[in-house]
Amino acid sequence: MKNVAIVLAAGSGSRFGSPVPKQFLPLKGREVIEHSLDLFDSHTAVDEVAVVLNPQWRDHFEALAARRRWTKLTAILDGGAERWQSTLAAVRHYATHPDCNLLLHDAARPWLSASILQRVTDALLQHQAVAVAIPATDTLFRVAHGCIADVPPRAEFFCAQTPQAFRLDLLADAYRLALQDPSFVATDDCGVLHRYRPDVHIHIVHGSPDNIKITHPLDLTQE
Ligand code: CTP
Ligand code: MG
Repeated sequence: MKNVAIVLAAGSGSRFGSPVPKQFLPLKGREVIEHSLDLFDSHTAVDEVAVVLNPQWRDHFEALAARRRWTKLTAILDGGAERWQSTLAAVRHYATHPDCNLLLHDAARPWLSASILQRVTDALLQHQAVAVAIPATDTLFRVAHGCIADVPPRAEFFCAQTPQAFRLDLLADAYRLALQDPSFVATDDCGVLHRYRPDVHIHIVHGSPDNIKITHPLDLTQE
């Protein structure tokens, strides 16, 4: 089964607040997006790589790709306004590839390690859907009307990271059902699969506290 890494990079970084989207900002001599592209391109368990972009950044990225010559980069796709629409662009692009796994990764997570990626691809040999997560470290409050409604047991909670990896046919089916549902609300891809194909078990592998998503400017100053 072919493993295709999808680097989701069509966001505008509104919380980060920079005119240049965070995935194109410099980090240790490379742009943020280059870190995960370099890892996917060099990892033996990854067969192909695609990037999903806002079309306004296509020229910028094509110039970068021309310089870097990633050998596995085979597609540059237009994303959508919401993250799930960017995933859907990849699902549709690969719809005709019968036997493949999509590994959907946030371009804004430059610190993905080879060992996490290996855990994901190893798990894909036995599971049809794989998520990366770490145990929650903060206590969680469920809040209603500005007050604590519940303090759930922390041990049951994990924080989601990426990549999230799925057999393409299952994810495509979940999105087909989601698009028929008038009450569909945007969520991550595990949320879409879990809601519309609850029969599919999503296996969890351990991530790392290093594999953070850059969301606010402070996240880029931490190492
Ligand atoms: N993403 C995407 N398409 C979108 C929105 C997000 O491909 N329409 C990507 C982002 O580029 C990022 C990843 O999904 O790599 C995680 O999203 P997030 O951290 O929310 O990034 P932004 O949406 O860019 O940031 P914000 O929500 O602050 O605007
Ligand atoms: Mg966002």
